[in-house]
Amino acid sequence: MESKTSALDTDLKRQLAEEIKELKKEKNAVIMAHYYQRDEIKEVADFIGDSLALARKAAETDADVIVMCGVHFMGETAKILCPDRKVIIPAPEAGCSLADSCDPVEFEKFVKEHPDHTVISYVNTSAAVKALTDIVVTSGNARKIVESLPVDEKIIFGPDHNLGEYINSVTGRNMLLWNGACHVHDRFSLQGIAELKKAHPGAKVLVHPECRRPLQLIADKVGSTAALLEFARKDDAKEYIVVTESGILFDMEKECPEKTFIPAPAEDAECQCNQCEYMKMITLEKLRDSLRDGKPEIEVVPEICQKALRPIERMLQLS
Ligand code: 13P
Ligand code: SF4
Repeated sequence: MESKTSALDTDLKRQLAEEIKELKKEKNAVIMAHYYQRDEIKEVADFIGDSLALARKAAETDADVIVMCGVHFMGETAKILCPDRKVIIPAPEAGCSLADSCDPVEFEKFVKEHPDHTVISYVNTSAAVKALTDIVVTSGNARKIVESLPVDEKIIFGPDHNLGEYINSVTGRNMLLWNGACHVHDRFSLQGIAELKKAHPGAKVLVHPECRRPLQLIADKVGSTAALLEFARKDDAKEYIVVTESGILFDMEKECPEKTFIPAPAEDAECQCNQCEYMKMITLEKLRDSLRDGKPEIEVVPEICQKALRPIERMLQLS
């Protein structure tokens, strides 16, 4: 019975993938997917990447339609970079707890209280927060961009507190940090990882910098999703404990089939908290429907769009 159901599932997925391929051609569309997307979405995507790579790709594409399989702020970033293109997001309700931890009104107050500071915002923010920002960064280029500024530059960094602490520690800066966090990365269990390490003493620990400081400190590698994938590809260990959203395991296993990747547990062992429920909102059906119907489209108020473009372009120039 079970195998019949999965055969049906496979047939349906194959059929949806075919429809998506046809629609993509017909609409001159490009499908971009973040590493945390469902496996079947990544299988039909033209491009898979981390936040930085997705922004870069959006800036250079000549497709008429950009379908962003990611969360809302990723669609906004693509729209800000390509205001004349149609940018579609198959699940517009896919938000981000980290972006939500930075309310633009509160952030503006914070910025105004520190008028002599350069404002650096993580890409995981709303367009309204980006519009209040001097330079946008991702986890893939934050260190390089902060290090490109004079050592005595006063900096506000938001919204991810854990990433901010990490960048302060590796650069020796003392940036003023906003107190935001991602509900997935902020919940990995130090104890659970220590137990895994005991069971797999040779395993290396790969940690995303949105995780808490104690986890960063036990890491063999701290980096963006793309950086962790690259490390796994080039490194010579056989096993890895992966402390980021578990979607990346698909890409790691695909690129390094001879290695073993173990997803790190979250503090609440009962739930699958190492999965981002927002990222998983996009399904093949939603992707097919959005391509077919040309919606839901991402819209950004033109004034905000203009203001948010400058700090994103600065990021692309500096990284
Ligand atoms: P990167 O893709 O930049 O590693 O960021 C992870 C993330 O949380 C995306 O939402
Ligand atoms: Fe946002 Fe966290 Fe999900 Fe990334 S994993 S999209 S930071 S909620």
